[in-house]
Amino acid sequence: MNAPTTSAARISAAELHEYVRAIWEQAGSAPREAQLVADHLVAANLTGHDSHGVGMIPRYVDSLRDRELQLNAHASVVKDIGAVLTIDGGKGFGQVAAHEAMEHGIERAKKLGVCAVGLRNAHHLGRIGHWAEQCAKAGFVSFHFVNVAGDPLVAPFGGTDRRIGTNPFCAAYPRAGKAPVVLDFATSAVAYGKTRVAYNQGKPVPAGALIDHAGKPTVDPTVMMEAPFGALMPVGGLAGGHKGFGLAAMCEIFGGALSGGYTTHDDTLQQTNAIINCMMSVIVDPAAFDAPNAEAQADAFVDWVKASPLAEGAQRIYAPGEPERVTRAEREANGIPVDPQTWQQIRDAALAAGLSQQQADSWSARLR
Ligand SMILES: NC(=O)c1ccc[n+]([C@@H]2O[C@H](COP(=O)([O-])OP(=O)(O)OC[C@H]3O[C@@H](n4cnc5c(N)ncnc54)[C@H](O)[C@@H]3O)[C@@H](O)[C@H]2O)c1
Repeated sequence: MNAPTTSAARISAAELHEYVRAIWEQAGSAPREAQLVADHLVAANLTGHDSHGVGMIPRYVDSLRDRELQLNAHASVVKDIGAVLTIDGGKGFGQVAAHEAMEHGIERAKKLGVCAVGLRNAHHLGRIGHWAEQCAKAGFVSFHFVNVAGDPLVAPFGGTDRRIGTNPFCAAYPRAGKAPVVLDFATSAVAYGKTRVAYNQGKPVPAGALIDHAGKPTVDPTVMMEAPFGALMPVGGLAGGHKGFGLAAMCEIFGGALSGGYTTHDDTLQQTNAIINCMMSVIVDPAAFDAPNAEAQADAFVDWVKASPLAEGAQRIYAPGEPERVTRAEREANGIPVDPQTWQQIRDAALAAGLSQQQADSWSARLR
C-alpha cells in the first residue's frame, strides 16, 4: 500500500474556488468556463465526494496536454424532436456541457412536461448529483444514466478483469422549501476516485470492493494504481453484484448507445488521459402528473423510514442526499480538507497549466 500521508490541511471553499478558477483561466478557459468548473469541483468537495473534487484537476491537465480535453467548447444540439434532445459535448469540459444540456432539458420540460436528453462525447461529468441538483433547483424530477466510455475499471459479475466503467446512476426528487432527495452513486462497489484518495492517504478500501489481477479479493488500492492491475467489483460485491452489474449495463447502453455516443468494447478502449462520459437524462415536471399529494406522500415516507429503531452502531438514518448536506454544512463552516499528496498533485498541475511558482505558493500559504 502507498505510504500513509500526514493529515489533511483545510482551505475555505471560497479560496479553493478562486484557485481552481485561476488554474483554468491560466490554461485558456473563458471566465465562465473556469467559473463552472470551479463551481462543480468545489461543490463535490463540499458534499464530501473528494474523489470528484479538485483532485481531478491533474487528470484534466493531463487530458488537455494529450489534446483530448477541448477548452471553451459548448453543448451543441444535434437533433431536436421536442421532448427528446441529442446533444454533443465536443469533448469540452463536462462541467460546461452538462450545465448547458440540463438548461436545454429544463426549458423543454417546462413546455412539454418531460424531456429526455442524450448527452454524448463530454469530458468528465464529475459528480452527477450536481446535474440532478440543477434540475431539482428548477423544480424538476430527474434521473441520469451515465457511462464512462472506453475506460473499464469494473469486472462483470462472475468475471475477473476490467470490462465496464464505474457508470454512475443518479435520481432526484425536488421538494418545495426543502432539500431534494438525491440518490447518486457509482455502480462499482466504491467509486474509482475513492481508491485514488485511499491510495494517496495510504489507507485500505472496504472489503468486497476490489479484486487483484488474479481475481482474488483485496483491500489494497494499489491494484488500481500500479501494474499488475486488478478491478473494482460491481456494487453489491460478491453477494449482490449481479444487481450492480445489471444497473451498470443499463447505464452503459442508455448513456453510451442511446445518446449516439459509444459503449466500452475492444474498438473503443481509451488510450489517453481523457475521461469521456455519455449521459441519458430524463427530466420531468412533477406538476405534469395528476398527483397533488405527491410531495406530502414523499415526505411521509421519508419521515416513516427515518423513524425506524436504530441498528446497533448506527448513529442515525439518512435520507438519500442527506449525508452530502451534513458534510456540506460542516465544510462550509470549517473549510475543505485536502491531503498533502493531493495538494502537491494539484500544485504540479497548476504549474503545468502555466501558473508561476510564486502564484502556486501563494495558494499553498492559504492552507491551515
Ligand atoms: N463522472 C463519472 O464518470 C463518475 C463515475 C463514477 C462515480 N461518479 C460520482 O462519484 C460520486 C461518488 O459515488 P459513490 O458511489 O462513491 O457514492 P457513495 O457510495 O458515497 O453513495 C452516495 C449515495 O448514497 C447516499 N448515502 C451515502 N451514505 C448513506 C447512508 N448512510 N444512508 C443513506 N444514504 C446514504 C448518498 O446520499 C448518495 O446518494 C457520485 O457523485 C457519482 O456521481 C462519477
